Amino acid sequence: MHSLVFLVGASLTLAGRLVTATQNVMDYGAKGDGTSDDTCAFLHAWHAACADSSSPTVLVPSGSTFMLKQLNFEGPCKSNIHFQECSSLNDCSNVQLSNLKFINSPRMHVSIYQTVGAQIRGLTITSPEFSPNTDGLHVEKSQHVEILDSIIGTGDDCVSIGTDTYDINVTRITCGPGHGIRSIFLKLHFVLENNIGSLGKDDSEAIVEQINVSYCKFAGTTNGVRIKTWQGGSGYAKEITFSHITLYSVEKPIVIDQYYCVGDHNNCKNKTSAVQVCDVHYSEVKGTSSSGIAISLACSETTPCAGITMENINIQSTNQGEDETTTCYNAQVNKKGYVVPSISCPT
Ligand SMILES: *[C@@H]1O[C@H](CO)[C@@H](O)[C@H](O)[C@H]1NC(C)=O
Ligand SMILES: *[C@@H]1O[C@H](CO)[C@@H](O)[C@H](O)[C@H]1NC(C)=O
Ligand SMILES: *[C@@H]1O[C@H](CO)[C@@H](O)[C@H](O)[C@H]1NC(C)=O
Repeated sequence: MHSLVFLVGASLTLAGRLVTATQNVMDYGAKGDGTSDDTCAFLHAWHAACADSSSPTVLVPSGSTFMLKQLNFEGPCKSNIHFQECSSLNDCSNVQLSNLKFINSPRMHVSIYQTVGAQIRGLTITSPEFSPNTDGLHVEKSQHVEILDSIIGTGDDCVSIGTDTYDINVTRITCGPGHGIRSIFLKLHFVLENNIGSLGKDDSEAIVEQINVSYCKFAGTTNGVRIKTWQGGSGYAKEITFSHITLYSVEKPIVIDQYYCVGDHNNCKNKTSAVQVCDVHYSEVKGTSSSGIAISLACSETTPCAGITMENINIQSTNQGEDETTTCYNAQVNKKGYVVPSISCPT
């Protein structure tokens, strides 16, 4: 027996606080003693949750060890299912999730919501290319989260980080085509956004702080490391580090876009407030880009990006003999070591 869980056509949310109706695996006969087979109990709890349209929660008491055979949690379900590991109904901190496989989930795959302390390790998330809005892993309103050693190949963002997040480490993630998928490049990127849009949408306040993305690989993705915010809104995104990033034919490797807008551009008029982006550090970012624009920084006119550093950046064109360029608008950038292609930010 091994604890490998397959989710097929389903999506899962880890939440730190109970928000919905629950299906406790213990009520379905799980023992959690480390020796009994709890597979059936988990499946029954899942099926009950799956048939419920109120976004219910599958509750797994923490502090127990469940023996699970390979599980297929199959959808489609009537609503998104939350999945929580709690020591009591009000204390669901320190969630651990490891060695799970998610295949072809139609919508967002794993979300970590209102959680304090979570470690996510060894996930494999794949879905077909061109599946819109299929985020791999979304983190929001959560603190002290580690995401490690995972492979994510989905139709949309690999890892997305939304508002009210603090102390998030994203380490050794491969973002790009997963095995078993056609060898077409997938549209993927790392992005800071909340799940309804981006930071600052509808003039909301956004706070994102202490995010460390390191030793990650991007293969054939649309974006590499990207921060995007809407016009308007308030709050900040600060102390963000992207280091040891390897790029294989990524369209836009480094992006800050404070003019993010989808749909009707009348809804995206230039506003006098913006989410402040500051203390963003890029170091050891290397590889190839396919668009000709290796670095694009477009910061707000009223709240320019401050304290950006670039150290040892080398991005070459995928097309031999072509040069990569950079654009910079309203950003203050300090350079150390080498930065190729060179970037200059008129002030
Ligand atoms: C993230 O990494 C930093 C530096 O290595 C460490 O101090 C911090 O505790 C880590 N946070 C989590 C949630 O693992
Ligand atoms: C980010 O994480 C890496 C890997 O754990 C670590 O080496 C580095 O010091 C961290 N950086 C910051 C700013 O915490
Ligand atoms: C907002 O400002 C930017 C930068 O000056 C400009 O390129 C863009 O056209 C403006 N958009 C609108 C809707 O005025």
